[in-house]
Amino acid sequence: MEFSIKSGNPSKQRSACVVVGVFEPRRLSPAGEALDKASGGHLSTLLRRGDIEGQLGQTLLLHHIPDALAERVLLVGCGKEREVGDKEYQRIVTTAVTRLNETGSMESTSYLTEISVKGRDLHWKVRNTVEVTRGALHRTDQLKSKKDDLRRPLRKLTLMVPRRSDLAIGDAAVREGEAIAEGVMLAKSLGDLPGNICTPTYLAKQAKAQAKKYPPLKVTVLEKPQMEKLGMGALLSVTAGSEEPPKFIILEYKGGKSKDKPVVLVGKGITFDTGGISIKPSATMDEMKYDMCGAASVLGAITACAELQLETNVIGVIPSCENMPSGKATKPGDIVTSMSGQTIEVLNTDAEGRLILCDALTYCERYEPDAVVDVATLTGACIIALGHHASAVMGNHHPLVHELLNAGKTSGDRAWELPLWDEYDEQLKSNFADIPNIGSGRDAGSITAGCFLSRFAKKYHWAHLDIAGTAWTSGKEKGATGRPVPLLTQFLLDRCKARKGGRKTT
Ligand code: BES
Ligand code: MN
Ligand code: ZN
Repeated sequence: MEFSIKSGNPSKQRSACVVVGVFEPRRLSPAGEALDKASGGHLSTLLRRGDIEGQLGQTLLLHHIPDALAERVLLVGCGKEREVGDKEYQRIVTTAVTRLNETGSMESTSYLTEISVKGRDLHWKVRNTVEVTRGALHRTDQLKSKKDDLRRPLRKLTLMVPRRSDLAIGDAAVREGEAIAEGVMLAKSLGDLPGNICTPTYLAKQAKAQAKKYPPLKVTVLEKPQMEKLGMGALLSVTAGSEEPPKFIILEYKGGKSKDKPVVLVGKGITFDTGGISIKPSATMDEMKYDMCGAASVLGAITACAELQLETNVIGVIPSCENMPSGKATKPGDIVTSMSGQTIEVLNTDAEGRLILCDALTYCERYEPDAVVDVATLTGACIIALGHHASAVMGNHHPLVHELLNAGKTSGDRAWELPLWDEYDEQLKSNFADIPNIGSGRDAGSITAGCFLSRFAKKYHWAHLDIAGTAWTSGKEKGATGRPVPLLTQFLLDRCKARKGGRKTT
């Protein structure tokens, strides 16, 4: 899929299809009006006849428009003009590209970028169009034996900007959109792969493949003996019941100066979570193939960074293994020693994410990071608290938490803060070890998980994203979402921009 930016008159576009908006009730957008004028009122006649009202989701495909150079015109309902927000705009774009993809317009020209979206500028609209289009055309048939290929799919989309002076804004926005979409698609595809294919070894291979594609990216994979040597007793207790070898994957993206302290992204890479001896009920256990979506989003965000050639240093740390029951598996009550030296009483083997993450967090200390952000499908309680709309964010440094919340707002991949107060931390008491791996009682399960991690993140600024509700969708449309790649990429983009701005003013 290819995107380009252009400016000019709609009736002069030589294209398989020109796309313009119609607002409720029966009102053409400016580009629509221009087309209407050029065609001697052809479009307004159709509107008057009632062919399209302009409701969100409606479309009308027209052929042979008088005096237009385009082969077709697609009218897309945009709802009420003053009520277009993020979600409405995304629905408009999705409707348009789905229709284009199915009706043989392999290359099309869209004026939907002229629609006003509440609180958003042209840069956002263009970037979002790229992200949404790539998302809408994404296929989940990678493992189907028969793929229903379209004969003439949408291949090229030209996005129109109002003035020639907007071309540069448009080009930059396309570039960001493509990078984010690339990261999102990678995270989605990995997330959707089943546990028998997407193993820790497979994840490591994918990381290496990315390093081959992007030279500023270096990948190192630690094997079990090295983890043993490092004393990663918590991580090793999770992999104990599995036949699949665990992998500790490290990606280093060096786009900044060598002295620039890196941001470290840590991603939970449980390629299947049965719960271990504290086994999960079977009903929706298949969804636990998504328990590596944190890892996938770290891979995705670093890919986006590399695509954008961001001038910053980012390190991805991905502890990866399976959580299986077996005669060798860790048992409830077992006490293990983490890499930090703290002993952990494993009261529930299903609280395994924090066990692999805590050793990864200790490992991060060696980078003297500017900030560490871990990303994990950590708790079912997070879905109870925030549903599927927001990721939870917690952290030990307010400015960092705010950066993430803001990146969520800008990218539309939103997060919401939960508190890591001492009162919650007090739920973590063990009679026999330094810390239990679950809080007493079920209350505030996402927060006590965050408190657990915070005990291993004392030496740097740290934040934790619980993506249990946002990383995938259940039900009929089951699939990975690629979240929070947009949030993470925005966070890194904003940091680069802030630094550059800072340099200029000083
Ligand atoms: N991977 C799960 C969290 C999860 C559950 C994500 C359901 C999405 C949907 C995690 O490893 C887990 O099992 N957490 C337990 C923790 C509990 C034992 C304290 C949970 O949330 O039930
Ligand atoms: Mn679990
Ligand atoms: Zn898990």
